[in-house]
Amino acid sequence: MSDLTEEQAKIELARLAMEIAYHDRLYYQNDAPEITDAEYDALRKRNAEIEAQFPALVRSDSPTNRVSGTPETGFAKLRHRVPMLSLDNAFDAAEFTEFCDRARRFLGLTEPLGIVAEPKIDGLSINLLYENGVFVHGATRGDGTEGEDVTANLRTMPEAIPERLNGPAPASIEIRGEVFMTKADFLALNEAQTAAGNRLFANPRNAAAGGLRQLDARITATRRLSMFAYAMGESSEPVAETHADYLDRLRAWGFAVNPLSKLLGSEDEAAAFQADIALRRSGLPYDIDGVVYKINDLTLQRRLGFVGRAPRWAIAWKFPAEQATTVLKAIRIQVGRTGALTPVAELEPVNVGGVLVARATLHNEDEIARKDLRIGDTVVVQRAGDVIPQVVSVVTAQPRGAEAYHYPNLCPACGSHAVRPPGEVVRRCTGGLICPDQRVERLIHFVSRNAFDIDGLGEKTIQEFYAEGWLHGPADLFRLPEREAEIAEREGWGRLSARNLSRAIRARQIIPLERFIFALGIRRIGEANAKLLARHYGTFENWRAQMLAATTIGSDERLALGSILGIGPAIAEELADFFGEPRNLVALDELAAALTIEPAAAATTADSPVAGKTVVFTGTLETMTRPEAKARAESLGAKVTDSVSKKTDIVVVGADAGSKARKAVELGVRTVTEAEWRELVGE
Ligand code: IVH
Repeated sequence: MSDLTEEQAKIELARLAMEIAYHDRLYYQNDAPEITDAEYDALRKRNAEIEAQFPALVRSDSPTNRVSGTPETGFAKLRHRVPMLSLDNAFDAAEFTEFCDRARRFLGLTEPLGIVAEPKIDGLSINLLYENGVFVHGATRGDGTEGEDVTANLRTMPEAIPERLNGPAPASIEIRGEVFMTKADFLALNEAQTAAGNRLFANPRNAAAGGLRQLDARITATRRLSMFAYAMGESSEPVAETHADYLDRLRAWGFAVNPLSKLLGSEDEAAAFQADIALRRSGLPYDIDGVVYKINDLTLQRRLGFVGRAPRWAIAWKFPAEQATTVLKAIRIQVGRTGALTPVAELEPVNVGGVLVARATLHNEDEIARKDLRIGDTVVVQRAGDVIPQVVSVVTAQPRGAEAYHYPNLCPACGSHAVRPPGEVVRRCTGGLICPDQRVERLIHFVSRNAFDIDGLGEKTIQEFYAEGWLHGPADLFRLPEREAEIAEREGWGRLSARNLSRAIRARQIIPLERFIFALGIRRIGEANAKLLARHYGTFENWRAQMLAATTIGSDERLALGSILGIGPAIAEELADFFGEPRNLVALDELAAALTIEPAAAATTADSPVAGKTVVFTGTLETMTRPEAKARAESLGAKVTDSVSKKTDIVVVGADAGSKARKAVELGVRTVTEAEWRELVGE
């Protein structure tokens, strides 16, 4: 029995409804739960207990009546013509200066850069395709390559998204911007939600995302969404020479461009602009989390290009993180898919800048010792944007926890020794494939959204099926359809959902190489590196063969692997370790046998005249720096090496070239001047 008054119970039920809905969303839609299942169950239990005590207060949106987890919806997918990337962050003036210096070095410039500053709206980005000035369709960012087709919903926002562009427009252009909800509209929406007994939205961004992802466009129409346009994807012809001019064109075409966007005199004005916007932040009608700075000259932007998932020509200078204090209830040790033990703080739930936080990362054991964290301490937690909340410090003015914390040296999942190699910060379970947590984490990663993305196979289901003994390695996932009848009998399943699961699994038996590589969960092979490898090696068979050869230290294949731009020797070593373990090879081949792995054909590289060619740059280049030349060549599918051999296809000879140019001539290798090279690659 709780000792709440009726008034308190009402508030508590509203809070619980919101909190449970929030965790449902994280779990079912974002695949990123923040609390344990036990904690989640405790929330539902508390809700049910209060409802039993105050039956008159049961809400129409009570979690008890709601089947948790609205499944992911039926939006069609749309492929972006040019990928939608994210931005690197800076958190202070020094990091911003470093960004400018890096760009200048890359371009070989000495003078200050022209920069456009734009408030960074906390909404969701959108890609709009216009053909001959007419709006064709629009999609959410999705995984950056393809998003959800929300055209019907976007058509309910005619003030922000014109049906027709005013004045001359290219044959086709992708226009990008941020859809958001104003703070006032967000508050009004939540008031209406409360009045109607519906669940509340945690912040304007979630409300905007929820509004845009409605299957019924009539609901979107009531949500009063806005958009600021700020970027370009593919365009059939150039539309401006500078970003500032592009913003003017967007305005002329009929888009809203943030009125605070400003062409700075030079990069030195950024700090003052940042401070000014920080002062205005709370008074702005919409949420922002920083300022985006973009190099104004579009030719320079094109030369700078991208690294990983972010452009070299823009940076988001974020405002400092938002903080709150709460109590550290426990420290839980998680075992990741590579065996790393990671400490997680279990917190008394607290609202940090609009989001309820119940867990935070503690980084590693040294951090716990350095902060002298003890269970029961009052701690400062902070979150910045999408980053996982962190424990910053202990509030020593508050009563302290009694005992110092001792970090375990045995794996909490399998009891194997957890060792920390000298010079490393991470302690790792030595249990390898015998450690259940590592296996389960690998499987969870394998089916996750950016890997195999199997509908209906979430973390919980994997854990259940693993406990059942059905899943030893990833290849077993593709045998699950054989158990369809058995699955249908399980609690919470049924024939329809079991059949859907089989379908979803079969649908993924054809998989692009880059997703396949990412799904393997090899240490340090995230999405960007998986993509680099897939593009570089093309087919699964070729990749496998080259990786096996690369297990030999010093082999040509190992050196070649380590010299792929963005890979480097440390990552090459991880790959070699993976392929050097016979059990991994068995699992890999068993898996490949169950799949059709699509070769990676990068549109930009396949039809490039230098794709697959080995290129050497020598001498002083005049129109580009060496790293720029290398990056550009590699982005077109060429392999850039340092020394000339019979295997070299092209040597680009700059001014004052010496022995390499001579050797090329001796070996009969094709040599080109810098200008010829530029012509060859279409510049
Ligand atoms: S430019 C390739 N400009 O920030 C660069 N992004 O962290 C594309 N955002 O996904 C982004 N305001 O959703 C750009 N003025 C602005 C922005 C902005 C907000 C968001 C956008 C993007 C994210 C990157």
